[in-house]
Amino acid sequence: MSNINSQTQATETDYGVIGFIGAGNMANSLIRGMIANGAEKTSVWATDLDSEKLYTLNSECGIRTGSTAEIAQHADIIVLAVKPQVMKIVCAELKTLLGGRSPLIISIAAGITVSHLSQWIGANTAVIRCMPNTPALVGKGASGLYANEHVSETQKDLAEKVISSVGLCVWVEQESAIDAVTALSGSGPAYFFLFMESMQKTAQEMGLSEDIARILTKQTALGAAELAMASDESTERLRLNVTSPGGTTEQAIKQFQLGGLPKLVDTALKSAQTRSIELAAQFDEKS
Ligand SMILES: NC(=O)c1ccc[n+]([C@@H]2O[C@H](COP(=O)([O-])OP(=O)(O)OC[C@H]3O[C@@H](n4cnc5c(N)ncnc54)[C@H](OP(=O)(O)O)[C@@H]3O)[C@@H](O)[C@H]2O)c1
Repeated sequence: MSNINSQTQATETDYGVIGFIGAGNMANSLIRGMIANGAEKTSVWATDLDSEKLYTLNSECGIRTGSTAEIAQHADIIVLAVKPQVMKIVCAELKTLLGGRSPLIISIAAGITVSHLSQWIGANTAVIRCMPNTPALVGKGASGLYANEHVSETQKDLAEKVISSVGLCVWVEQESAIDAVTALSGSGPAYFFLFMESMQKTAQEMGLSEDIARILTKQTALGAAELAMASDESTERLRLNVTSPGGTTEQAIKQFQLGGLPKLVDTALKSAQTRSIELAAQFDEKS
């Protein structure tokens, strides 16, 4: 992996018109994060089957909403943000509507490979596969990107400006690394939420009010993450720094180790990676 970038301001002149096909959870995170980080509202367009979602985005964010046809005609970058299951149909429609135009295509769908997209939209299409995550909504996303050979350096710079406007982004050199990125950062927020849920529940059982248990859990997660980001020390070293011999932390860590947490994390992430590979294979069969 290389070229780690974060928090670049994006403006209209940076990337022209960017059109989102699909305005669900992930597109909302990206769009709202981009707008919050200074993207030009009129340069961000979106379409969705659900007009309510478009109405909300338009009224709350001021972005343009419309049809897939309008996006196909005008966008310089098209972000495919629909569920993997409908991607083939969406690409077939898009191919017709593009009528020979060749904007940069960025797909955020899990399990849809560059090869699928090239097959469905056109062999020479410039395609970037991106695996974002939902903290993009608050400008703290973590995304992995992979570009095919038709993507120019200028297009890579533009994609990086868009994605890094909502957090950190890294380029991977092999497409297979996207399966690992999916298992790590794509799905990762849910792992931390699960851990936070468990901590909060036990804190309440130990006598703290729901409000106090929740806010202390969240602030502890935030503090640990910010400390890890700010420090040059390894996460192992940071852990050891708060684990005094004979102290309370040592007791808890001992229980995590005895309970097999490292092995469990290993199994969980590898299962997610395997699922990502399986999903791609399913689309192979159907394509
Ligand atoms: N959520 C995450 O954390 C996450 C993380 C990384 C990547 N992703 C990827 O992001 C993609 C979107 O996920 P999501 O969670 O945002 O899904 P979502 O909330 O279901 O959003 C997808 C949206 O696309 C709409 N849609 C379906 N067909 C369409 C069409 N032909 N034209 C225009 N819009 C259409 C859907 O409308 P209907 O609901 O009416 O069908 C829905 O509003 C997925 O491919 C997923 O793999 C998600």
